[in-house]
Amino acid sequence: MMAPHLEVLALPTTHRFQRGDDLAAELLRAADIAGITLLDGDVVCVASKVVSLVEGQQVALPPASDTEDPRQGRRQLAREHATAIVADAPWVLVTRTHHGFVAANGGVDASNLAEGEALLLPDDPDASAAHLHERLAERTGARIGVIISDTFGRPWRMGQTDVALGVAGTAAMRDERGGTDLDGRPLEVTEAAIADEVAAAADLVRTKSSGTPFVVVRGLPSGDPGTGADLIRPLAEDLFATGGPTAVDHGVRARRTIRRFDPDRPVPTDLLERAVTAAATAPAPHHTQPWRFVRLRDRTRTRLLDVMAERWRADLRRDGESPETIDRRIAASDAILRTAPTLLAPFVVLDGAHSYPDPRRTDAERDMFLLSGGAALANLQVVLTAYGLGAAWISSTLFCAPTVREALDLDASWQPLGLIAVGWPAVAPEPRDEPFATDLLIDR
Ligand SMILES: Cc1cc2nc3c(=O)[nH]c(=O)nc-3n(C[C@H](O)[C@H](O)[C@H](O)COP(=O)(O)O)c2cc1C
Repeated sequence: MMAPHLEVLALPTTHRFQRGDDLAAELLRAADIAGITLLDGDVVCVASKVVSLVEGQQVALPPASDTEDPRQGRRQLAREHATAIVADAPWVLVTRTHHGFVAANGGVDASNLAEGEALLLPDDPDASAAHLHERLAERTGARIGVIISDTFGRPWRMGQTDVALGVAGTAAMRDERGGTDLDGRPLEVTEAAIADEVAAAADLVRTKSSGTPFVVVRGLPSGDPGTGADLIRPLAEDLFATGGPTAVDHGVRARRTIRRFDPDRPVPTDLLERAVTAAATAPAPHHTQPWRFVRLRDRTRTRLLDVMAERWRADLRRDGESPETIDRRIAASDAILRTAPTLLAPFVVLDGAHSYPDPRRTDAERDMFLLSGGAALANLQVVLTAYGLGAAWISSTLFCAPTVREALDLDASWQPLGLIAVGWPAVAPEPRDEPFATDLLIDR
């Protein structure tokens, strides 16, 4: 018996594709010229570019001024047609398209097109593949699989390969889970992206300039027909929904003050430790590590909040506030601080601060350490947010430092930075109104 083998046959054409062309007819003409008769079980790989041309996906490239980078027009189009920006760096824009594809410039093509024109991906590549599959069946009487492919880069790997955008009449995935390897060990995660592999094989016999939009792959084992959509990882399972600098930017912007937590879900210590170690990467004066995070256990928490409330009541009474107002304000604070699954009391210690004979420089030195504390607490909250946790930074301890130091038995060099309530958000936070950089960035 012959060992398994494949044939990969290029079908060149000199045809210039345009809107409304009969793709099946052009494919069969190219096969004819190549002397190939399509057979049952053959799979034709069709470059998405010709599908887009035939379907009229040409759009005007936004005009670029002479000084502008000509790539900007393509980027602008990709942005307009994106459902999400995955990575936006000066050297590359990666977007998610309405189909769910993730590609540089959203797959917007500007090569070998009329001046000022660009080409979007086919609107529904699975429908395009199904349509061609049916037309080919009508005209040849054979069951011919169709894969519509395009060239995409891959994260983690250099170079590009062709991948399947649309699939009809042939397998998309081969699920090998539940099988065994040669030694009989169970295969747990093996799902072969067959249609991508076929698309990549087809690309071996064409070059971008060769006018080879059609390639026949012959000899594939039959499998359950699939679709291109089968190969798109659902967004909820996508751990890399943003990449590169964009991931960091998103991570910072995603932090919101969370004031209501799921009461039944504790904060795992390992996540808290990660956030604390991230906090401790903040810039700090004199190469110190001045931050301390006291996790308040139940009894300590109650005792601290009791003495702080007493202090606060005295302040508010002195301000002339009514007993009702005082009760209401303390109750609002308690609603967060007494119920949060975890309560942290952050401090900076001034051990490494330089000493000066005058208050001006002594105060500036303390301020430096406090600023470093603020930076650390921002880091802490950003990293908590990255893992789905939420936090509220509450000023309380800043207003009664000696009371806090006494309650927690800390020496006078410990400067409280407020309290951080931590937990799993009870509800998703509202999207943020972005501030305008023009209001905040001032040139002098
Ligand atoms: C030093 C400091 C003290 C804060 N104190 C309180 C507070 O006592 N109570 C409170 O509800 N929020 C407090 N916040 C949170 C702010 O109200 C919050 O950051 C602001 O409303 C913006 O919302 P965002 O964090 O979701 O962007 C404090 C923030 C900082 C930086």
